[in-house]
Amino acid sequence: MPQGAEGMAKDKITVPRIRQMKAEGEKIAALTAYDYGMAKILDRCKVDILLVGDSVGMVFAGLSNTLSVTVEQMIYHTQAVGRARPRGLIVTDMPFMSYQVSVSQAKENAGRLIKEGGAEAVKLEGGLAVREAIEEIVAMDVPVMGHVGLTPQSIHRMGGYQVQGRSPDQAKKIWADVLAVQQAGAFSVVLEGIPSHLAQEITAGVDIPTIGIGAGLHCDGQVLVVNDMLGYFEEFKPKFVKCYTELGEVIARAVADYVAEVKQGEFPGEEHSFHYSR
Ligand code: KIV
Repeated sequence: MPQGAEGMAKDKITVPRIRQMKAEGEKIAALTAYDYGMAKILDRCKVDILLVGDSVGMVFAGLSNTLSVTVEQMIYHTQAVGRARPRGLIVTDMPFMSYQVSVSQAKENAGRLIKEGGAEAVKLEGGLAVREAIEEIVAMDVPVMGHVGLTPQSIHRMGGYQVQGRSPDQAKKIWADVLAVQQAGAFSVVLEGIPSHLAQEITAGVDIPTIGIGAGLHCDGQVLVVNDMLGYFEEFKPKFVKCYTELGEVIARAVADYVAEVKQGEFPGEEHSFHYSR
């Protein structure tokens, strides 16, 4: 990758570039990434943000929610994504209990994700409740992406993955959370699982880019879990997910062909076999 004088690829997506995209009306395309191979493919397709989401616990590890994901696991997956040296910005989720207990713990864990994992920014869920943590992390020069609305780490409080902000009171709370995140210095905010009209108002009313997931068309950008949009996670499919392919089916067909060829003695063929040298 050609490097500029400042030691960064010329077209590298940076935090200032993400902010500039909102100012210029250019939509931001984000996807989750958890491993090297997928990060390479996403980057080839010019995905702007590679989010190492704590959804890794569900779609990669088969957990029923994200709550038991650890900082060590997030570091491991961020390192794998980082080895692809993507042009896209690497943002890593702070997992549950890595930032809620104390601000000093939040700072330490954010620092580990940057220093050991190679993340270029961190994301944490919540608004008013995590305002101080965001402020202090930003003060260490670690860029923060906020995440409000349907916050999967609050699954027990919400009683499931319910759309948030449908009532006027809930909408007011979401507004307060977004403003807190912005005032604390976050460079962008994920709006998850909220009515599209509310997301549209918020997007028009804040300076930082909004990245929607289940928040309609009017956000400054969109993010999806990559396994969902590829049809590679078959447990459940939220309404907001568009499957661009059925990768699970594609893989199943290829694997079934392999099994059949092995059973029938058709694989390996001559072209896959080694011979004595003459
Ligand atoms: O963990 C995750 O994947 C997320 C989303 C916003 C997609 O936080």
